[in-house]
Amino acid sequence: MKIESKTVHWGDRRKTGDFRPVTTPIYTAASYAYDSMDQLDRVFAMEESGPSYARYDNPTRSALEELLRELEGGAGAIACASGMSALHMAVLSALMDRPKHVIAANLMYGATTSMLMNIFGPMGVETTHVDICDLPAFEGALAETKPGAVVMETVANPLLRVGPMDKIAELCRRAEVPLIVDNTFATPLLVRPLELGANIVCHSATKYLAGHGDVLGGAIIADQAHFDTIRTLSRTIGPVMIPFESYLTMRGIKTLALRVERQCANACRVASFLATHPRVERVYFAGDPKHPDAQTISRLFPKDRYTGLVAFEIAGAARPEVFRFMEKLNMVVRATSLGDVHTMVLYPAMASHRDLSPKHRERLGIRDNLLRISVGIEAVDDILADLDQALAV
Ligand SMILES: Cc1ncc(COP(=O)(O)O)c(C=O)c1O
Repeated sequence: MKIESKTVHWGDRRKTGDFRPVTTPIYTAASYAYDSMDQLDRVFAMEESGPSYARYDNPTRSALEELLRELEGGAGAIACASGMSALHMAVLSALMDRPKHVIAANLMYGATTSMLMNIFGPMGVETTHVDICDLPAFEGALAETKPGAVVMETVANPLLRVGPMDKIAELCRRAEVPLIVDNTFATPLLVRPLELGANIVCHSATKYLAGHGDVLGGAIIADQAHFDTIRTLSRTIGPVMIPFESYLTMRGIKTLALRVERQCANACRVASFLATHPRVERVYFAGDPKHPDAQTISRLFPKDRYTGLVAFEIAGAARPEVFRFMEKLNMVVRATSLGDVHTMVLYPAMASHRDLSPKHRERLGIRDNLLRISVGIEAVDDILADLDQALAV
C-alpha cells in the first residue's frame, strides 16, 4: 500500500470477539478480564497479544500506535499525552545509559529548549546548542562533546530552516549517538526521518496528525534498538494518550494526505503573495528557491510540497504594528498552534518563543516583527484577501 492508503486503512479492522468494526471504536476500560489465569499470565508477559491495563496499553491507542509505526517505518510507537511528553521520554530514554550531554539544534520549539535547560539541566544534563544547518560546526561539536543524544527538528521552528538530516544521521551512526528528530512540521507524508537514519521520531500530534484543533497529543516512534527502553519507560510512567484523543487522532490521520496536499499548495500561494507585498520585508518558506537550505530541501522533500508553514517580517514594524495586523484579521485565526484545517497566525515573540529572553531571541534571528502562518485548507483566495486587508495601512 502507498502511504496515502495506509493513512486510511492501517490499524483498523482488528478482530474483536465475534465481529470486526470497520473503524476502531473508543475503549474506555482500565483493565480486562481473562478466560484463565494462564491467559492472564501470557498477556501480562506480552507472549499473547491483548490489553492488560490502561497505563500499559489500550485497544484504541494500540490501533493508533500501529498506524503511527507503519507511517514512520519504525519498530514500535507510543501515542503520548502531548508532544512535550513524547520529547521528554525520547531524551530520557536516550540518556539512560549514555553520557549526560545533549547536542540540540539552536532553533527549536521554545518549550523543547526550555525542557533541556530547565528540566534536564538541573539533573546534570548539559546541552550544547549548534546551528544544525552548519554541518562542519555540528561535526566539530559531536567530536568535542561526545553527547548521549542529538535533538533536532525536521523543519526548525520558527525560521523554517532545514538541517541536512541524512548527513547528520550518518555522523551520529558513526559516533554511535542516537538521533532524535521532531517531525511535527513535515509529517511522514513529506519526510520519514527513520528512513534517513534517525533513531527516534517525535510528533506533537496536536498539530498536523490530528489536524482539527481539538486534540492534545504526541507520538514517539523508534527503531528496534531504542524502542524497548521507550516502552518500558512509558509502561512505568504512563505519559500516554487517552482513548478519546487516540480515536480523534486516528480519525484525523485518515485525511492527513488530503489536508497536507492542500495546505502545501495553499502555502506556496501565500509565500508568493507575501514575497511581492510592499509591507513585507522578508519571507521564510522552505519552497523558496533562494532558501539558504535549498539543496538540502530538494534532497529531503518531495517536489512542490514544503509544509504549510510560512513566516514573514512586516517591514519596520514594532509590536504595536504587529498587534494591529493581528487584530485586523477576520477569517485567519490568531492562535498558538499549527497544522490545523484553519489558517492560523502566531507571534513567536509572544507565544512559541516567549520564554526565551529578548537577547536570546535576537541571537536566533527571531525579531519582534516576525510572524508565522500555518496555512489551512480554506479557499486560498479567502486567505490572501484576509492577509491583504490586514496588511493595508
Ligand atoms: C515543533 C513542535 N514540537 C513539539 C511541540 C509540543 O507539542 P504539544 O503542545 O503537543 O506538547 C510543539 C508545540 O507547538 C511544536 O511546535
